[in-house]
Amino acid sequence: MVRLSVNINKIATLRNARGGNMPNVLQVAKDCESFGAQGITVHPRPDERHIKYKDVLDLKPLVSTEFNVEGYPSPDFLDLVFKVKPHQVTLVPDPPEALTSNAGWDVVKYRDFLKETVARLQNEGIRVSIFMEPDASLMESAAETGTDRIELYTESYAKHFPEIGAEAAKAFADASKAAHACGLGVNAGHDLNLDNLKTFVQEVPHVLEVSIGHALICDSLYYGLQNTIGMYLALCNPPTELP
Ligand code: PXP
Repeated sequence: MVRLSVNINKIATLRNARGGNMPNVLQVAKDCESFGAQGITVHPRPDERHIKYKDVLDLKPLVSTEFNVEGYPSPDFLDLVFKVKPHQVTLVPDPPEALTSNAGWDVVKYRDFLKETVARLQNEGIRVSIFMEPDASLMESAAETGTDRIELYTESYAKHFPEIGAEAAKAFADASKAAHACGLGVNAGHDLNLDNLKTFVQEVPHVLEVSIGHALICDSLYYGLQNTIGMYLALCNPPTELP
């Protein structure tokens, strides 16, 4: 079963545009869960341009599904997640000024740093996932960091899918199989949407969780949040087609 974690960053972007509390990020998180989302993801950035550090603290007691906090492991980020102790922390390598996550970890270059960071998080009972390019040859090095899972960075799949369809998932399927063979759990995310999600989960084995934000929140402007979450959930676990 592929679980859907809804990334609510964009709700915070909208709230921050006016400085008040509308829409209410905490209420939206609760609503996403009541509409069937199996997790809530947030990505606090150092400039707090969407999710603020306080949001992460406030969300912790409210999230009753899985709470996933993404971010670059700066000292401030690590202090926050040690305080909050979410179920999962997803480590991303992007610099503070990045518009959005734009690359996976170089697990060879940063092996020692990741190893130490992963161990510190796991000592606090937090599951760790590291953001990775779909490169099967990197999965052994990823496993050497001690991480529990990897998250496949799906931007290139989303980019190529409109032209080449299922072929765009090939490197992801290979990377996922390699990760699974090394004992790693596999998550995926970035630019997944109503058009490309079904093929991705059909083509890529072992995916445990997808985290989806931008497209899902945009779709909810047209379909409403409840309908949209239902549509994504249906695509996460499509019925097996008869031959
Ligand atoms: N995974 C990571 C590591 C991310 O940084 C993001 C965006 O915050 C996502 C998944 C979700 O991407 P999108 O908003 O395109 O669905």
